[in-house]
Amino acid sequence: MKTGEFIAISCFMAFIVINGVLPAHTHAGGLIDMGYGSRGGSMGAGVARSQELIQPIPISFDYDIAKIELGKKLFFEPRLSKSGWISCNSCHNLSAGGADNLPSSIGHKWQFGPINAPTVLNAKFNLAQFWDGRAKDLKEQAKGPIANPMEMASNHELAVSVLQSIPEYVQWFKEAYRVEKITLDNVADAIAAFEETLTTPNSRFDLWLKGYNRISQIEQEGYDLFKNKGCIICHNGFGAGGTSFQKFGIAKPYDKDTQTIGRYNVTKNEKDKYVFKVPLLRNIALTAPYFHDGSTWSLSEAVKIMSEHQPGVTLPDTETNKIVAFLQTLTGDQPSIIVPTLPPSTAFTPKPNRN
Ligand code: HEC
Ligand code: HEC
Repeated sequence: MKTGEFIAISCFMAFIVINGVLPAHTHAGGLIDMGYGSRGGSMGAGVARSQELIQPIPISFDYDIAKIELGKKLFFEPRLSKSGWISCNSCHNLSAGGADNLPSSIGHKWQFGPINAPTVLNAKFNLAQFWDGRAKDLKEQAKGPIANPMEMASNHELAVSVLQSIPEYVQWFKEAYRVEKITLDNVADAIAAFEETLTTPNSRFDLWLKGYNRISQIEQEGYDLFKNKGCIICHNGFGAGGTSFQKFGIAKPYDKDTQTIGRYNVTKNEKDKYVFKVPLLRNIALTAPYFHDGSTWSLSEAVKIMSEHQPGVTLPDTETNKIVAFLQTLTGDQPSIIVPTLPPSTAFTPKPNRN
């Protein structure tokens, strides 16, 4: 094993170990028991709240380092795009909650896409990928943007031939997949393996779920409202979302965007019009603007719109504020990533094309 690899692996293992063993000291915001709240005791863990419908994000050790390291390079690899300029990270910025914080993304030739980019963080917990669920998993999803004319605008043969022209990539694919020739399937598989690691454990809410006293009275009241108003019927599971497809506009039709019809695109079933994958609310404080059309920058407005259109209740400001306070406790440890060094192009590497 080369020293570089060893260091990378050691750092990675240390990251996992630190996350696993010291949840109370590594969570977002650095709040280490500040005497919040009155329930559950103020020191250490009480009884885990395992009956709740939102579960703490698990910390998995089942990782294949060769695939993950390769997938990380591919995630940051702009040469997978026609222009040689756009990578997955351009729109799913891992420094910014795994999204681009734009109403809709900017792709090839500065084209604006039709829909807001969801975060890649915790995307593994989605029952399917994309707002309409048209990709069944992360691997299938990863093939999409490379060839999407509005996004990276390459095509699969070109993307693979770029990688095949670079000896380091040929070697890494050989190590990870025992293949001489790179295939798109392996490219997507490696990217998905990397994305599997992009989870955000140890949010204050998760620590509370595990029995630690880490959320304030107001935040807990916000969570109680989240349950009592019915939000949790749709936003549940590890991701506080991503477990079902639901109509946007149950109690009252959503009229700001009537062009995007959601799940209907996949099923052609009339009752799936305006049905979307329920978004994850993990790290929601980091991923404004909100909704598939990116129509609001304000989390409190998003909460108000939701309660008006879904359960059909008008929330007083005091209640909205409490729910927002609860949602802010869902920000977890962001993936700690060493930006990968990409190998240089060779004489055989297809040149970027910005047209
Ligand atoms: C030009 C911007 C752009 C680029 C580049 C891009 N994406 Fe996306 N991504 C989006 C948008 C927009 C969506 C939502 C599209 C939809 O649902 O119809 C999305 C959706 C996703 C999703 C689904 C998340 C969910 O909650 O459903 C994943 C995962 C993802 N992208 C990963 C990737 C990967 C991996 C790459 C690189 C191979 C990539 N993206 C490149 C903009 C981009
Ligand atoms: C019947 C299911 C359902 C219920 C109940 C529900 N939601 Fe949603 N929620 C959704 C769907 C579907 C979307 C995506 C809407 C879209 O943009 O197309 C969404 C989107 C959101 C968003 C924006 C997420 C993002 O990343 O853009 C927030 C915030 C949110 N919901 C909070 C709440 C709150 C708070 C409640 C309770 C008052 C609630 N939801 C109740 C299904 C539901």
